[in-house]
Amino acid sequence: MPSDASPETIAIASDHGGFELKTELRKDLMDMGYSVLDLGSDSLDSVDYPDFGYALAGAMKEGKAKRGVLICGSGIGISIAANRDTDIRAALVHDALTAKLARQHNDANVICFGGRTIGPEVARDCLKIFLETEFEEGGRHTRRVNKLSDPQ
Ligand code: RB5
Repeated sequence: MPSDASPETIAIASDHGGFELKTELRKDLMDMGYSVLDLGSDSLDSVDYPDFGYALAGAMKEGKAKRGVLICGSGIGISIAANRDTDIRAALVHDALTAKLARQHNDANVICFGGRTIGPEVARDCLKIFLETEFEEGGRHTRRVNKLSDPQ
């Protein structure tokens, strides 16, 4: 939980398939004391998930947030979109273990959920773990993560 005077900003975005879960997680983030940059979508109307994955990646590239949350129906499409930026490590997680490993091994900076595949309680648990778990810096994990930003 952030404790200083200026809270960290977490970016969040979804398509229509993730809109309801986004609404819940946005409130959870604010309750945890974070500032939230909500990049849409704003309703259940059908939209294209790449637009929202790219919007979040762009906001992070511009320095508006260091960490983000993405949600589409399955979590798959929107994570693929965000991961096209080599500085984004967007991890689709399903449970506490994958949320923890996404941080410890992959230094994930974006957590992704399937709004139609995960319940809000499990997603909330994963989000909290994602925000509170440190990367196991140094050694093999750092070497591997560095390779993700420098594809051959
Ligand atoms: C939208 O119907 C759905 O295809 C999208 O939310 C996502 O699951 C794509 O990967």
